[in-house]
Amino acid sequence: MKPVEPVRIPDVETVARWRRDFPILRERVHGLPLVYLDNGATTQKPESVIAAERAYYEQTNANVHRGVHLLSQRATDAYEGARLRIARFIHAARAEEIVYVRGTTEAINLVAQSYVRPRVNPGDEILISAMEHHSNIVPWQMVCAQTGATLKVVPIDDTGTLDIDAWERMLNPRTRLAAITHASNALGTINPIARLIELAHARGVPVLIDGAQAIAHLPVDVAALDCDFYAFSGHKVYGPTGIGALYAKADLLEAMPPWQGGGDMIRSVTFEKTEYNTIPWRFEAGTPNIAGAVALAAALDYVSAIGVEVAGTHEAELLAYASDALREVPNLRMIGSAKEKVGIASFVMAHAHAHDIGTVLDQCGVAVRTGHHCAMPVMARYGVPATVRASFALYNTRADVDALVAGLARVQEMFPL
Ligand code: ALA
Repeated sequence: MKPVEPVRIPDVETVARWRRDFPILRERVHGLPLVYLDNGATTQKPESVIAAERAYYEQTNANVHRGVHLLSQRATDAYEGARLRIARFIHAARAEEIVYVRGTTEAINLVAQSYVRPRVNPGDEILISAMEHHSNIVPWQMVCAQTGATLKVVPIDDTGTLDIDAWERMLNPRTRLAAITHASNALGTINPIARLIELAHARGVPVLIDGAQAIAHLPVDVAALDCDFYAFSGHKVYGPTGIGALYAKADLLEAMPPWQGGGDMIRSVTFEKTEYNTIPWRFEAGTPNIAGAVALAAALDYVSAIGVEVAGTHEAELLAYASDALREVPNLRMIGSAKEKVGIASFVMAHAHAHDIGTVLDQCGVAVRTGHHCAMPVMARYGVPATVRASFALYNTRADVDALVAGLARVQEMFPL
């Protein structure tokens, strides 16, 4: 068997070249060079993505699936071609298994309402984990309220690692679906999703993976994972906001009723009866975000050219560098120290509130997210109201981490213990 080559950490020149692809990184904030460490919230966009959206509006713009005129055909080809590129990026067997959505949140709500809701009864259970963000909690709470089902939560330990024994134990004949994040937005923990899916399938339970924080940083192969649903947002993977994808196995999509009604999801309509379209269009009511789909495919092309593994290796090296540096900062406590993490460093400081730290860092040109990260139960688990979160992308450098640490020294001066 051919030995697997280890992924090489890209050198400084390579990362500098990537940085030049992102026009916004040339911006200055408060007179200082921008240090963007809020990639968990949204990533910046390379020139090729901005150009794809611009070219779409300059040369192609028309509605899809509706016109015989040339532009409409071009727009339809671009929109459906993008779907195929998305399918390839995550190794879906067929383009029809990709449903365009606004983002991860809409994808999860679609599965909650169209797949889970019709299948659950009082006493049934939906399994999630204690590290989910609100988008992978609230849609299930809504289904539970609508049906009388119960939400079960698999615990995590103090490092932010999932209790896999509890996952296995809590899967039972009443479990109708298990939904878990690929990587935690508040802690950075990477979950062993292949194993979690295997355990769930052994009990006949389908699994939804929330890929929002993984899609730009970890390779995803839905076929190898045999996962049932995989959701992600375009804007977290260098694409535009307002577009994302739900991957679902074709036979599951076929069995799901439509969620929203309107144009494009129909085959024929009379006042007496509507016949619905085939998958995936049955789930795409109304004029879609065509430009967003085209630009998302351009973003996936961009990441593919670099290689998700290469980007992820660079970010892992950066996280190790940042973790060492942050450990040296007095009165700083890391939140989330699982063995396997994406490039997310979440922390609190004894003498300053996260928002104050974020404000001082902003004055130093460093953009981080502060607050509960739309994961209030995670904050409650650690007994903190909020954390400061630095999250890395492929264009970040050690100099960015140095700027963060220098900013924290400024925080120490302004908020002495
Ligand atoms: N889910 C996004 C974040 O973690 C908004 O910041």
